[in-house]
Amino acid sequence: MRPARRAAVAIAAGTLLTGLAVHGTATATAPVTEEAARTLSVTAPAQADTLREAAAEQGRFIGTALNDALLGNSAYTAIAGGEFSSVTAENAMKWGSLESTRGQYNWAGADRLVEFAAANDQQVYGHTLVWHSQLPGWVENGGFAPAELREIVDNHIATVAGRYAGSIDRWDVVNEAFNENGTFRDTVFLRAFGERYIADAFHAAHAADPGAKLFINDYNTDGINAKSDAMYRLVSSLLADGVPVHGVGFQSHMILGQMPASYRANLQRFSDLGLEVAVTELDIRMNTPADPTRLDRQADQYRQVVDDCLAVSGCSGVTVWGISDRDSWIPGVFPGEGAANLYDDDYRPKPAYWAVLDAFGGAPGPDPTDPDPTDPDPTDPDPTDPTDPGTPAGCTASYRVLNSWGGGSVVEVSVTTTTALSGWQARFTLPSGARVTNGWNAVFATGGGAVTASHVAHNRVVPAGGTVTFGFQADTGAHAAPAVALNGAECARS
Ligand code: G3I
Repeated sequence: MRPARRAAVAIAAGTLLTGLAVHGTATATAPVTEEAARTLSVTAPAQADTLREAAAEQGRFIGTALNDALLGNSAYTAIAGGEFSSVTAENAMKWGSLESTRGQYNWAGADRLVEFAAANDQQVYGHTLVWHSQLPGWVENGGFAPAELREIVDNHIATVAGRYAGSIDRWDVVNEAFNENGTFRDTVFLRAFGERYIADAFHAAHAADPGAKLFINDYNTDGINAKSDAMYRLVSSLLADGVPVHGVGFQSHMILGQMPASYRANLQRFSDLGLEVAVTELDIRMNTPADPTRLDRQADQYRQVVDDCLAVSGCSGVTVWGISDRDSWIPGVFPGEGAANLYDDDYRPKPAYWAVLDAFGGAPGPDPTDPDPTDPDPTDPDPTDPTDPGTPAGCTASYRVLNSWGGGSVVEVSVTTTTALSGWQARFTLPSGARVTNGWNAVFATGGGAVTASHVAHNRVVPAGGTVTFGFQADTGAHAAPAVALNGAECARS
């Protein structure tokens, strides 16, 4: 039997359509009848529909690195807000981003990220307070005496962690402190203070934000090796000394086929110290272009990482480093490699996405025999295909202009369906080529005035007799209500 499947937020990029998706509260409602309940038991997937719901059911977070500069991209933003329960600033909270000139702070990107997280009910993973890389030149090359550098570092931690105190769940206090052989990395901090700079940074961060969980984070510490042994010795001694260290982050920038066999055992030994562990920067790169075989192997490797986290009680969650392959740091640093993330260049979920969702206990992925795996069910409308109406539905619709001014209006549309739906598209036409500029409870595509509003994850399934309500702002003033069609069938006005 065909498995129940879901529509991930997937939007074709580079088409003539402008995709725009916004999440809000669920508004699918229905009279509770036996008939509706029977229909729902057939059509509604019992399992979670998004990564964040599935991870939450396992008591874990699923995070992504967020590039605040991409928040203007509606596909990116819809996925970032809808699929992930934690966000890490990919760059915006690094010292070089915040204070490239001494005493002059640029908070814009970090503030945007914290506001985005609050609006989407997400945790924030702060990254990072003390790191040798992306350090401003004035710190790196300032030639400061240790006493002055001490003041500079303390002030940096107090200022940054203090500003966001209460908004940050976890901070990477110290990042990448080790060499591959387990010795301490030679940094401006190590040279000035010796290894105690690490303990001092944790004390300073704790003083600035006593509520945040404080992490030390590194790469190539994913398996049991000289570097992770050194990390183990360090955190053991920090704990023995009463230093407020609460967690260890395992970046997990992996290569396809090279997952350390000791990954789970390694997480476990840190968890056994009473520390939280988290996968903090997961990606799995391959030689490009990707092919189906490699993408399937990648999916297996992603699944293994989630399985290992779930098997370790102290593993609080998994953060993937970026949303789509298009946004990843990898091709720039490793030419000829990439395709490392959960979404492809067009923000379509890859096999790795479905593997992660499934590993967290969410809905299974698309049927491999499906000719169009981006269309979750042959009877559903494909949100990437404006010509695909899905199953026609009997319906009534109300289209209300709630507010208007010279060049704009706010509209609410409610559609009631007589048949149960497991995916829908509502279509209507705005006056003279107007466009939707933002909206809620649907993914919007506008072209030449024609608008297609497609379901989002939380209102995909609508029982017979159910109503979905969505809304939007358009760049046109007061206007007459157009006809609304649901899955290709024109609705009676209500
Ligand atoms: O913003 C400037 C832009 O103004 C300039 O024109 C352009 C020219 O190169 O550079 C832009 O800055 C880049 C920045 O990303 C923002 O895009 C930097 O050059 C580039 O070096 C920087 O790369 C980041 C890298 O950390 C820096 O070390 C990556 O985006 C980011 O993904 C990566 O993340 C790190 C984690 O913080 C720590 N663990 C490893 C991980 C991957 O390297």
